[in-house]
Amino acid sequence: MLTVAVLISGAGSNLRALLEAAADPAFPARVVVVGADREAEGLAHAEAFGVPSFVIPWRGAAARDEWGAQLHAQLEVWNPDLIVLSGLMKLLPGAVVDAWSPRIINTHPAYLPEFPGAHGVRDALAAGAERTGASVIVVDTGVDSGPILAQERVDVLPGDDEHSLHERIKPVERRLLIDVVRRIAVGELNLVAASTP
Ligand code: GRF
Repeated sequence: MLTVAVLISGAGSNLRALLEAAADPAFPARVVVVGADREAEGLAHAEAFGVPSFVIPWRGAAARDEWGAQLHAQLEVWNPDLIVLSGLMKLLPGAVVDAWSPRIINTHPAYLPEFPGAHGVRDALAAGAERTGASVIVVDTGVDSGPILAQERVDVLPGDDEHSLHERIKPVERRLLIDVVRRIAVGELNLVAASTP
C-alpha cells in the first residue's frame, strides 16, 4: 500500500477527491497525513476522513529555509512513500525537494510547459489561448519545470473568466492526479525512471 502525504494551501478539492478515491479498499494508496502552510479550509477534509494533519505556518520568504526544515521534519515523522502538492501555493525549498525527490508530485492547472507559476489559469486567459489544460508533474527545484507524468487539454470557452475556467480544469486535474497516484502505487509508473533524462 502506497502511503501519501498531501500538502495544501486552499480549499483542498483535489485533496478531497484523493481522499474519496483512497476510501475505496481496492485503491492501492492511502493518505496518511495532510499538511498546510496555513489554517487552510481544506484541512477540514482531512478531519472528515480521520486523517491527521499539521500546519507549518508560512512566515514569509525570508524564513523559507526554516519553514522547509520544519516541513521536512514533520514529513519525516510520517515518512510517506509519496508527497502530493495539491494546491500548495509555496515553492518548496531546494533542500526539501532534494530530500524527497523524485517522490514529490504536483498538480497544475495548465498544459505545461505552457503557463507555469501561481497563475496558470489567469495567464492562459490573458494570452488569449483557445486551449489550456491540466498537468501532473514530478517536482524539481524549478517552477513547474519537472518531468510531466500526465496531462490533458481543456478548451477555453467564449465568456470564460478565471473562476469558470479553473472550475472546468479542476475535475480534469483530479482525475489525472488519482490515476497517477494509482499508477505509481501499482508500479505502472516509476518516478525514478520518469525523472531520468
Ligand atoms: C488546483 O488547480 C491546483 O493545481 C492549483 O490550485 C488549485 C487547488 O485547488 N495550484 P484545491 O485547493 O484543490 O481546491
